[in-house]
Parts: sequence; structure tokens; C-alpha cells
Amino acid sequence: MLKVENLVAGYGKVQVLHEVSLEVPEGTLVTLIGSNGAGKTTTLRALSGMIAPQSGTIRMDGADIAGLPTHDIARRGMAHSPEGRRVFATLPVADNILLGAFTRATGGRAKGDIAADMDRMYGLFPRLAERRAQLAGTLSGGEQQMLAMARALMLSPKVLLLDEPSMGLAPRLVEEVFSIIARLKQERVTMLLVEQFALAALDVADYGYVLENGRVSASGSAASLKDDPAVRAAYLGQH
Ligand SMILES: Nc1ncnc2c1ncn2[C@@H]1O[C@H](COP(=O)(O)OP(=O)(O)O)[C@@H](O)[C@H]1O
Ligand SMILES: [Mg+2]
Repeated sequence: MLKVENLVAGYGKVQVLHEVSLEVPEGTLVTLIGSNGAGKTTTLRALSGMIAPQSGTIRMDGADIAGLPTHDIARRGMAHSPEGRRVFATLPVADNILLGAFTRATGGRAKGDIAADMDRMYGLFPRLAERRAQLAGTLSGGEQQMLAMARALMLSPKVLLLDEPSMGLAPRLVEEVFSIIARLKQERVTMLLVEQFALAALDVADYGYVLENGRVSASGSAASLKDDPAVRAAYLGQH
């Protein structure tokens, strides 16, 4: 599905990612963990075209999408739920969700049944259903995070990039977000999940990569990473 090789990217003259390679096979949940500043968000931004990679290849179903504009990458089926809940604050919840289907409504992707998918989002995120007429800017941080996820899912993506969906949430909401991710995994949504909550991410993922200073320092099945002494010491605290 998604195969990244030797990705180099950064901001201006500052190189953040140093030949990052990773793979997200169809129907799997892969997590990218690492400390603050390791380059996780930069990786997702380069994948979805928010920043242009300096070199490397990003293959989706075999076609290299590195350097294509974001709308083209979305049309090919990559959805990005960004860090920091970028919702349209002055629009109601329902309109925010619907905007996720823009590429489908305008013929960029197969239209399918947009209304049925809206209902599916309300089933997945009951909090959003209760608040569908409320302006997005008045939602709590956790609810806005869920809204960003719902909007990304409305693309009907081939692969969903999730950037720290648990960031800044109360423990109860973190649990809720992870249970939604587990449910999407059951539905075989292909996902690349970026998380600082490494243990929770490895609990739900099939496979994981550890990013350290812009380089992949370890990778393996989620179970093997959880048992790796170096990973445990650096990212999972003292268990
Ligand atoms: N817009 C930006 N302009 C310049 N440098 C940035 C920008 N965003 C992030 N960086 C730098 O890139 C590095 C990696 O950041 P980031 O990808 O956000 O890490 P993570 O998501 O793993 O916390 C950091 O050193 C950060 O300061
Ligand atoms: Mg980040």
C-alpha cells in the first residue's frame, strides 16, 4: 500500500529526516513512535505533501507520489488527520465532517454514499452526533481531535495518517480515541499512527518504527518492540 524509501525532508536548509524508510501494508496499523522533536510530524507532512521532500520515494500502490501537491495525494486516497486539531472553528460540526468528503463530491475520488458515511461517523463518534449543530470552535480539545479524525475518514481513504490523536486529552478520552482506532483496525482501515504514548500505540498496532533524531533506530512487530530493552528504557518508562 504505502512504501517509503530513503525519505529526506526538512524546513529550508534544516534537514530533519535522514533517509527514513518505512512500509504500511494494506489493512495493517503501523505506528511511528519517538520523542518530541524526533521528526514524526515532519514525516507525515512529507507523506501527505504538506512539505516537499528533498529526496526519496513515497510509493502508494506502486506509484511515486513524492512531491505531488496535497490535493493530488488526497485524490489518490491518502488522508491526514493533522497534529493540533485543525478544524474550521466557525463552521458547525456537521459541515466540518462533510468537508472531508470534498474530494469525493467534486469527482476526485469515487463518490460512494456520502450521507451513509456521515452516519457511520456519527456511529463511530457519538459525541460528534450529539453536537452536530454546534460550532467546531466551541468543542473541547478532545472532541476537536475526534472531529479531525472523522473529517479525514470521510475521504474514504486508502491510508489514514493520524498525528498524535491522543495529544492533550484527559485519560478517559485517550481511552476512547484508542478504542476507536482499534475499531477502525478491525474494519481493516490502513493506518499510520504517530504517537508519543508509545505503549498504547504498540498495544493496538501490528508493526512499529522508532524514530530518533530523524532516523529509524528500531523497527519490528509491535510485540517485539514492546519487549525490546532499549525501546522499553527509552519510550515505555520503567515497567
Ligand atoms: N515549521 C517548521 N519550521 C522549522 N523547523 C520545524 C518546523 N516544524 C518542525 N520543525 C523542527 O523539526 C524537528 C522535528 O519536528 P517534528 O517533526 O514536529 O517532531 P515530532 O512530531 O516528532 O515531535 C524539530 O527539530 C522541530 O523544531
Ligand atoms: Mg509531532
